[in-house]
Amino acid sequence: MTQPSAKATAFDTWIRSSFVEMNTELENLYFAQDDRARIIGVGDPLKVRLRDEGQVHVLALLAEGNTGDGFDSAFGVLGNVGMYLGALRRHELSNPAREERSPFAEASSLALHVGASLGMAPRFATSHLATRNRAVAGVRKTFTSLPDEFLFIDENTRGILALQRAADALTQVVHLGVSNPVTDLCFDTAREALRDVLQFNRRLFEHLDVERFFFCVRPYYKPYRVGRTEYRGANAGDFSGINELDLLLGLCRASDAYYAQLLVDKMTFMLPGDQQRLRDCMTRTSLLDELLSLAAEHGGKAWFRRSAAAYLEVADLFGQTAVQHHDQLVARFIEEPALRLEPEALQGVTASGPPLPVLLRSLEVLRDMRVAADRPGVSTRAADLTYLRQLIRQ
Ligand code: HEM
Repeated sequence: MTQPSAKATAFDTWIRSSFVEMNTELENLYFAQDDRARIIGVGDPLKVRLRDEGQVHVLALLAEGNTGDGFDSAFGVLGNVGMYLGALRRHELSNPAREERSPFAEASSLALHVGASLGMAPRFATSHLATRNRAVAGVRKTFTSLPDEFLFIDENTRGILALQRAADALTQVVHLGVSNPVTDLCFDTAREALRDVLQFNRRLFEHLDVERFFFCVRPYYKPYRVGRTEYRGANAGDFSGINELDLLLGLCRASDAYYAQLLVDKMTFMLPGDQQRLRDCMTRTSLLDELLSLAAEHGGKAWFRRSAAAYLEVADLFGQTAVQHHDQLVARFIEEPALRLEPEALQGVTASGPPLPVLLRSLEVLRDMRVAADRPGVSTRAADLTYLRQLIRQ
């Protein structure tokens, strides 16, 4: 692995130390107020220091230009300049609603240059804080040193790793074919991985502090401008595994305009390797369609019943994770605290930008596709799953 330049390393060291200390101090100031959503005019000297110290690193890296240090180094710089811009947005030193372009021209140039060279959006992505968040002597990158941020990032990462494991296992089923007896191993792995996701989600639900998460963690994921364009925030869904599961299980289809739009929109928020995996997956026949195409001729055979039963169990567990995400995590940590906010403080609550009710409706559609709900107006596989269930019960 090529080593990052001295300047890239200095920026990384700053992001992992002073940057975290200043953000944490600011969070504690905001959080101690009666109105925890009040940011403007609070902790101004700290904000100025954060802005100016970061700018020194940005200018040095911009002057250095593209060092050709390889993917890992460029990816690290993109994450660091992105976290810097995300923090400036969080502390209201910029706000896309007030501006036509980012007030941070040099940081924008650096992010645009590196992002374009990697084929990724010019902002920090989930992978920077999750699966590619390299720990240094135990310390992974975060915005603050608040225990709730560590809990959130660690459980998100565990969830992502488990969903990737389930997606890998189902990809193997595609290659083996559903009639292959060896697929029992793959379906077992997928089931175990999804049970792990349920457990990580449960831990978040039980242990994450609602107020700390809502007021001190979530705001770093707001959309912000890079140059003239506003980029939506990162969310734990920005990896291909979740959509591979949707597509391989056949619960969502790349030919569905709503779902395809979602895939197109998230492409550049993912690692290039994930982008490729997702494209590849979009060309495959889902396991559900494969089973349905075999049902008339082989529905009564032992291998078919075994495979269909294993598929249905995996699909059911996957649906449970979607229900848990929407009805527990989104409801408890976003929807309920947002109800208690004044209307003007609501702006920018979500990571993707649209007003909260619009976002909630679109997350609900995804949940209903994943549980194959019988819901008018939403294209789901309810009838196909019912048919398969009846077939193996006979
Ligand atoms: C406190 C915990 C969590 C909360 C409050 C939460 C909330 C949200 C919200 C509000 C969105 C919509 C995008 C936006 O932010 O604007 C979203 C998207 C998403 N989140 Fe979470 N999330 C949490 C944890 C997780 C975890 C642990 C996972 C699994 C790894 C996950 C997977 C996803 C996925 C896949 C999406 C993209 C939409 C989809 O495909 O369903 N989230 N989340």
